Amino acid sequence: MASRTPLTGLAAHAELQGMARTLRGASIEQLFADDPGRAGEFTLEAAGLQLDYSKHLLDREAQAALVALADEAGLGERIPALLDGADINNTENRPALHSLLRASSGGELADKFEEVVAARARMRDYAERLNRGELQGYSGETITDVVNIGIGGSDLGPRLVTEALRPYHGSVNCHYVANVDPADLQDTLQALDPRSTLFIVCSKSFRTEETLTNSLAARDWMLEAGATEADLALHFLAITTNLEAATDFGIATENCLPMWDWVGGRYSVWSAVGLSCAIAVGWERFEQFLAGAEAMDRHFREAPLGANMPVLLSLLEVWYGNFLGAGNHVVLPYDNSLQRLPDFLQQLTMESNGKRVSEDGQALDYSTGPVLWGSAGTMGQHSFHQLLHQGTLLCPADFILPLTSHTGITGSHRRLVANCLAQSRTLMVGRSREAAREALLARGLPEGEAERLAPHLAMPGNRPSSVITMQALTPATLGALLALYEHRTFCSGQLWGINPFDQWGVELGKEIGAEILGRLSGDVGEGKMDPATERLMGVWEQAQG
Ligand code: F6P
Repeated sequence: MASRTPLTGLAAHAELQGMARTLRGASIEQLFADDPGRAGEFTLEAAGLQLDYSKHLLDREAQAALVALADEAGLGERIPALLDGADINNTENRPALHSLLRASSGGELADKFEEVVAARARMRDYAERLNRGELQGYSGETITDVVNIGIGGSDLGPRLVTEALRPYHGSVNCHYVANVDPADLQDTLQALDPRSTLFIVCSKSFRTEETLTNSLAARDWMLEAGATEADLALHFLAITTNLEAATDFGIATENCLPMWDWVGGRYSVWSAVGLSCAIAVGWERFEQFLAGAEAMDRHFREAPLGANMPVLLSLLEVWYGNFLGAGNHVVLPYDNSLQRLPDFLQQLTMESNGKRVSEDGQALDYSTGPVLWGSAGTMGQHSFHQLLHQGTLLCPADFILPLTSHTGITGSHRRLVANCLAQSRTLMVGRSREAAREALLARGLPEGEAERLAPHLAMPGNRPSSVITMQALTPATLGALLALYEHRTFCSGQLWGINPFDQWGVELGKEIGAEILGRLSGDVGEGKMDPATERLMGVWEQAQG
């Protein structure tokens, strides 16, 4: 791929800087007043999702300039390059073909697609046999529980999807163990019976310390319960690119499902990494999940940049991050079953775009990926929303709202919806000091007291948010939602000129972790670490008695 102009070198960047100076001081409410069509027209629909981006510090002119920025940055060519399998991951010389994993045809990528289809058939077979109660453990008991052992992309995606689609669950219970803290595995196994438990060791590299440690402990648990080494074949599957390591670990080749180096871990829930989800919700639902994502892929490929949902969300991210000074982005799903969404999006966006050099290795002099955080509404309202409303940080927000609830309990759900809309509106309208004073007087407070307290109740407002709605949280809309954020992440990476598909920054910590483990295990002699680490290792040794 041709090397690209840095964000700050694009002509539209200079234009946008001027617009940002004006819009920083603009009132969003005034933008609505000046542009009567705004509420209806700053909206977009794609793949069963509706985006309302009207409550932003953005007018039509700035929107057009942002779209021009995307155009100038070459997004129009980069999007098909991604989807068609160009070597977009330039530091690892490979494509990033997560979209192929949910495709219904392979086009030019027929060879890879054939492998995907073959893997899907094997996933389907496991999911269906487990749900029909046809898989038995070493003592002949039916497998009723599946434990996915993995971390990062081998955990967050499948865990999120399984939890989010709880209303669709079948008869098999799926559990997730990620942390090397032994309590994670221990707590999970406490409620399980080894005779009816199947482990899925999910690791693209099959080298991840946490996953291997937990898998060895799971193996011991099985052997201690009376299973023989030969019985383990009935209780362990692996999802990996590293067949050799999986078989060395003792997992039979026929129990290994493939991953490919052209899929990043955080983009892999659509592959066999999602096997636990397919087991939890059944194959048909899993296919609907893939189809929802594929619909978003189609929109991403076909929609013009100015009406392209992932592109627009990315432009908003860049607008706030690079022009209006926001270093963070808050995601607020108003659906309890999406409470893991911020965790998933943290890895997706921060591992992808937490980079400080361009694709070509040049140090960047502008911000890249912001901190992403959030939690399910309404819980956050009773903890961190105070900061959203009155703090000094600019926190652009995404509200995510399924319009109907699987519970059928309309009264409580109506309250949930009211809270979501109220928070988005309150962020925008705020409350003036005068209105606060009036409210205090109406409560019967004396004039002086109302005057004293008014500044504490006043809220600046003018705080931006998007609202993403869907008819219901279904496998298809969930698929579309995750694909939306994947593509948003890609677009932002392209605008910043970085490679969103590597993660070299996690390596050094792993190496130093191994050195320290060597020291703590007494396997290696005194090393020369920094004085603080030497002291803390000593503290740990003393605590061992
Ligand atoms: O350490 C980061 C990371 O490499 C992530 O990118 C990845 O999702 C996670 O670890 C797990 O990796 P694996 O699937 O290879 O075990």
